[in-house]
Amino acid sequence: MKIFLDTANIESIKQWNNTGILDGVTTNPTLLKKEGGDAKKIIQEICTIMSHGDVSVEVTETEKDKVYKQAKEIASIASNVIVKIPCHKDYYAVIKKLTQEGVQINVTLVFTLLQSLFMCKLGVKYISPFIGRLDDIDSPGVELIDTLRIMVDEYKLTDTKILAASIRNVKHFHEVIMAGADVATVPVAVLEKAAQHPLTNIGIQKFMEDWKKLGIKQFP
Ligand code: E4P
Repeated sequence: MKIFLDTANIESIKQWNNTGILDGVTTNPTLLKKEGGDAKKIIQEICTIMSHGDVSVEVTETEKDKVYKQAKEIASIASNVIVKIPCHKDYYAVIKKLTQEGVQINVTLVFTLLQSLFMCKLGVKYISPFIGRLDDIDSPGVELIDTLRIMVDEYKLTDTKILAASIRNVKHFHEVIMAGADVATVPVAVLEKAAQHPLTNIGIQKFMEDWKKLGIKQFP
C-alpha cells in the first residue's frame, strides 16, 4: 500500500518525505496554481526531492496532437515523472501510443468501472478514481474502489495500479485502504490528521510525568 502526497507545496513535500512514509506525489493544475510561480521549476524540485518515488504531472493542453507532444515533454523532465492525462475518449489513442512508447501514464478524472477497464487495456500505470468528487454528486466514491479491486484481480489487470484520489478526509483515507487501493494520494491536511491521535499525546504526557517523579538524572 503506497501513500502519495496530493500537493505541489515544496515545504510540505520536504517535511513529509523526511518522515519516511511517502512513496510519491501527485500534482494537478489547480494545486500548481495554488503555489504560484514557475510551475516547471516546482515540478523539477519535487522530482528531485522525491527521487525514490513517482511524481504525477498533468497535461494542460486539450487538443490531441498537443496533448501527445506535451506528454512527451513532461515525461522528459525527470525519470520519475508520471504523465497525468484525463480519462476522455478523445485521448484514448494518444494514451495507447504513449504507453507503447514507454511513457508512464496516470489517467485522471476516472469515475466508473468501465472507464477503468478501458484504461487498463491501454496499459497505463495508474488509474485515478476520484472518491470525493463522486461523493459530492451523492454517488458512493469508496464503492468504486471496492469494485475496481474485484475487476483488476479477477481479470488479472494488475499491471495497472488503483490510485485512490480526491480523498477529502481521514475516513476516506481509511476506507480506500480497506477497499484495496494500491495507492492513496492524500492532501497534507488529511495526512496531518491521520498521523495524530489524542490518546497517543495523553499517553506520552502521562509516561513523562511518572518518569519525572522517579527523579533519575541520567538514563540509561
Ligand atoms: C489527484 O491526483 C487529484 O488531482 C486530486 O486528488 C483531486 O482532488 P479534489 O477532487 O479534492 O480536487
